[in-house]
Amino acid sequence: MSYNNSHDLCSNLNQEQDSEFTQLADKAVSRRSFLTGAGVLGLGAFIGMSPITNSVQAAIRTKVKSQLIGFEPIVSSTADTVVVPKGYKVNNLISWGDPIFDGAPEFDPTGRAPASAQALQFGDNTDGMSLFPLSSDRAVLAVNNEYTNTDLLYDHKGDMISADDVLKAKNAHGVSVFEIQQTAEGWVVDRSGKLNRRITANTPMQLTGPAAGHDLLKTAADQTGREVLGTFNNCANGETPWGTYLTCEENFHKYFGTEDEAHSISAEQKRYGLKAEDKRYQWSKFDQRFDLAKNPNEPNRHGWVVEIDPMKPESKPLKRTALGRFKHENAALMVDDSGHVVVYLGDDERGEHLYKFVSKGKYDANDQSRNRDLLVDGTLYVAKFSADNGEQKGKGEWLELTFGKNGLTPDNGFNSQAEVLIYTRLAATQVGGTTMDRPEWVAVHPNKSSACCTLTNNKHRGKKEGQPVGGPNPRAGNKYGQIVRWAPMNGDHTATEFSWDLFLIAGNPSIHQEGLLAGSSNITTENMFNSPDGLGFDKGGRLWIMTDGKYSNADDFAGMGNNQMLCADPETGEIHRFLTGPIACEVTGLTFSPDQKSMFVGIQHPGEKGKPSHFPAGGNSKPRSTIVVITREDGGVIGA
Ligand code: FEO
Ligand code: CA
Ligand code: CA
Ligand code: CA
Repeated sequence: MSYNNSHDLCSNLNQEQDSEFTQLADKAVSRRSFLTGAGVLGLGAFIGMSPITNSVQAAIRTKVKSQLIGFEPIVSSTADTVVVPKGYKVNNLISWGDPIFDGAPEFDPTGRAPASAQALQFGDNTDGMSLFPLSSDRAVLAVNNEYTNTDLLYDHKGDMISADDVLKAKNAHGVSVFEIQQTAEGWVVDRSGKLNRRITANTPMQLTGPAAGHDLLKTAADQTGREVLGTFNNCANGETPWGTYLTCEENFHKYFGTEDEAHSISAEQKRYGLKAEDKRYQWSKFDQRFDLAKNPNEPNRHGWVVEIDPMKPESKPLKRTALGRFKHENAALMVDDSGHVVVYLGDDERGEHLYKFVSKGKYDANDQSRNRDLLVDGTLYVAKFSADNGEQKGKGEWLELTFGKNGLTPDNGFNSQAEVLIYTRLAATQVGGTTMDRPEWVAVHPNKSSACCTLTNNKHRGKKEGQPVGGPNPRAGNKYGQIVRWAPMNGDHTATEFSWDLFLIAGNPSIHQEGLLAGSSNITTENMFNSPDGLGFDKGGRLWIMTDGKYSNADDFAGMGNNQMLCADPETGEIHRFLTGPIACEVTGLTFSPDQKSMFVGIQHPGEKGKPSHFPAGGNSKPRSTIVVITREDGGVIGA
C-alpha cells in the first residue's frame, strides 16, 4: 500500500510523537565511493556471484545488457496506463468487482451494489498472488484483496456507513480464488471453475500451532481460542511446494475501535497500533467483534500467516501461529538442503523487524500429505545486523524467539511460547533484533545462495529513539528505500549466522549528485525509482522489483514518474525499468505461468484519493484495481 496516503493503512503507523529527536546527518559517502566497490554490491565474492569490478560498473552506466535481461528498458511515465517494453503486450485479466461465479452480478460503478454482490465478485485492491497449475493451459489463481478504497466502494464515499456497507467491505477483503484458462486471446477467468472461492473477513478459519487455544485468543464468541472468523488486510503472500497458498495479514489494527471512553488500550495493543478511533472502516459500530472494549482479545486473532488449500474450496483456512504475529508482508518459503522449511517474513512498520521461521519437521517430496503440518511447529528468529566500521555490509545473526531463552522469561513478561508468538514484536525487542526501515517483501534466489528484502522507506530513521542510522538502514529520514541482501552461513538457510550487503540504495541522481540520496552506483537517471516494495525472483534468477512510492514526479521524486516495476540482474547489479503503472497506483503482486511466458502483475489502487485515473477502462470510468497479464509478441520468456 502506498505510504504517502494519509488514510492509507501503511501510513501513520507510528502515532507517538518523535522522542529524543536526534537529527543525524547522512554520512558523507559519495557515489564515487560506491564505484570503488566498497559497500554496495560487494557481497558477490562470498556468495558465488561475480564481484563487481570497476569495468562492470562502467558497463552499468553505458547500459550494456546483462546475460539475463533482454528487453529494451522503458522511460519513466506519468501516463494513465500500463507501459511495457517494445515487443511486449498487456491484457487485463480481472478488475475489482468483476464476477468470479456464473450468474454473479456484473460490476456496478455507482457504488450502490449490495454486500451480496461483492461476495460473488473479485475483491478490491489486488495484492500478492500465486498461480497453481491445473494443466498446461489452465490454472487456479489465489489473490489477496488487501483493503478497500472507501471513496470508490460506496456512493456516499464512506460518509454514511451502514451495516450492509460494513458487510460489503468485509466481502471486498480477503482472498479471491478462481480458475483461469489460456485462450487464443490470452488468459481469461472461468466463472464456472469448480475451485472458485471467495474468502472474506467473515470466513471461518482455524488457529493452529503453539498459540492456538491460549487464553489471549479466547473471545466471548469462541471460548476455545481456536475458531476465528476471517482474514483481512492480506498484503503479500507465499506458496508451498505442497500446493498451498499463504496469505499474510498486515495492517489488521485499522479495523478495530471502540466508542467506550472508559476503555484503555494496553501497552501490547499500542505496540500493534490499536486505537479507540475507528473513522475509516467503522466495523466496530456494527460488529462487536471489532469493538476493543467488548472483545479485547479479538485483535490477537489477526496478524498471522494463513495457509489455504486452493484445490479444496470447502477446506478451512489455517492460521499458523508458529510464524509469529505482526504486520506480515509476505512469506518467502524455501526448502533448505537439510529438508527443513524456511520462511522469511517481514514486519512492515517503521522500526520493526525481519524474521525467519525454520520448521521442526522435514519436507517429504515423495509424500505431499506428510507436509501438511510443517508450518505448525518450528523455531522463529529475528534478525540482528552488525556492520563493519559504518559500511553498508557486515555480518548478522538470527536470534531465537523461544520461551525460556534470550530473556523471554516470566521476569520479562513472557509466560509461555504462546505469549512469545502473540506478542512477537515485544519478544523481538527483548532479544535485541535490529529495527529496520519497514521490511516489505523477501525473495529467495532460486539457487538458494542468497535472499533479499525490500526496506521501503522510513521517515523516522535517525529521528526516533531506537532507530539509529547505520548498518542496513544507512539514511536518516529514509525517503527512497533500499534492498538488503544476505547469504546464509555455508549456504544453509537454517543457520543462525549470515553475511549481508545492500543490493541497491534507491535515490535520485538527477537531484542529488553526491552522497546517499543519489543512490547506489546501480541507480541511474534512467532507472531511478523510490520505495521498493514487491519483490520476486523468476525461475531464471531475474529479480523483479515493484514500487509503492511517491508518484509526485516532483522535487526529490522528479523524473521517477508513476509507480513501476524493474528487473535486476543479481550477478551484475544492473537494473532496468520494465513496466510503469497508471496514475496513483501501486504495482504489487507477481506470479508467472510455469513456462515463464505469462507474467501476472497487480495494479493496486489506481486513482487513490481522488487522483485522476480512469484505469483500466478509460473515458470517465471509475478506476479499479486490476490484474494484468504481460506476454511477449514472440511468445518468449518474460524478461529474457
Ligand atoms: Fe501492504 Fe507493506 O504493504
Ligand atoms: Ca497499496
Ligand atoms: Ca509499501
Ligand atoms: Ca507491500
